[in-house]
Amino acid sequence: MISTPKLYIPEVAFLIEAAGSAPSADNSQPWCFDWDNNTSTLTGRVRRRGGFPADYHATRLALGAAAENLVWAMQSLGLDMASWYLGIPDEDGVFARGPVTGQANAIEPSNTPLWKLRHTNRLPYRPEIAPDVAHRLAACQVNNVGVRTIMGAGIRQTADWVRQASEIRFQTREANEWFAASLRYGDSPEDFASGLHVDTLALPPGGVGLLKLMSDWNRLQWLNRIRAYKLFAAIEAANFQKAPLVVAIIGSSDHAAAFDAGRCLQQVWLSVTEQGLSAQPYYVVADLLNRLELNSVPEQCIPHALALQNRVRSEYGHENTVHCLLRIGKPIGVIKVSGRLPLNEIICSAAHTN
Ligand SMILES: Cc1cc2nc3c(=O)[nH]c(=O)nc-3n(C[C@H](O)[C@H](O)[C@H](O)COP(=O)(O)O)c2cc1C
Repeated sequence: MISTPKLYIPEVAFLIEAAGSAPSADNSQPWCFDWDNNTSTLTGRVRRRGGFPADYHATRLALGAAAENLVWAMQSLGLDMASWYLGIPDEDGVFARGPVTGQANAIEPSNTPLWKLRHTNRLPYRPEIAPDVAHRLAACQVNNVGVRTIMGAGIRQTADWVRQASEIRFQTREANEWFAASLRYGDSPEDFASGLHVDTLALPPGGVGLLKLMSDWNRLQWLNRIRAYKLFAAIEAANFQKAPLVVAIIGSSDHAAAFDAGRCLQQVWLSVTEQGLSAQPYYVVADLLNRLELNSVPEQCIPHALALQNRVRSEYGHENTVHCLLRIGKPIGVIKVSGRLPLNEIICSAAHTN
């Protein structure tokens, strides 16, 4: 069994912290880690937290992002990853495993690593952006997953997809309940660390009250009788439509590609951060496309969902899907950031320990 102090070998703690600082849908942090001191092996496993199942597409994106952070952190330590496994979880839930051996570079505590500077900024973004940003982001790629950069009129079309998918999302009980369960309203550090804090959502005055109202499915259904979902979806798409740059993470729709898409998403986000800009992912279109595959789109919304799927396929090809969208730009201000579970809470259970 693992003993907690062993974890605090500085390089190992540094690597786990790097992986755990990755983004995840609704800050679900669907991972845990083990360190085997005898074999000097670090293992990352999927762990269900929040609504998203362990094999859900959004979970795979988050695991891919965590793996990408591990790659960057190992590189910064000057360590070799040639014999590491990084990929969709195997039958033991392992998505990352490999040795941490060799002479590591010193960790410079005064230098905040890039992956810790990245966060989601949901404020509006300024309309201007340097022309070379899109060019630099277009180079991000992991296996068959790559990036399409969208500007100008293309953003209006993509914002329309966001709005249409969002209208369906607000009529989907499961999506609403997963989101509501992730929300945190309190002031303690745990509230920021364990879920999606409302202070990070850039809500307008009265927004918190409305969110509480909508979090109850019966009340949302009642509001939806007067087509409130149309208003909520228009609000969700508004900042997206005004973004100076949108990135679509595009690749095949198979399971392994979702992990690669998470790595690609994080490459984009780290590059955005390095360029002094911010990003906000919009998962709603990808979620709808996945829900179509899983037959979990509400009956009355299926025709609209299929129409959107056709539009996406005719834009990106039948063999491809949109894994995630991001708006990118310079925010008009700073915003509170999400926290992360402390190290001792992302150690896998003793049952999994070697
Ligand atoms: C797969 C995935 C989907 C996400 N979808 C959305 C989204 O639709 N809207 C949004 O505002 N943020 C979205 N996020 C951002 C997460 O909510 C965010 O990463 C998480 O709350 C942690 O906050 P941080 O990014 O500031 O560290 C998504 C992140 C991931 C990895």
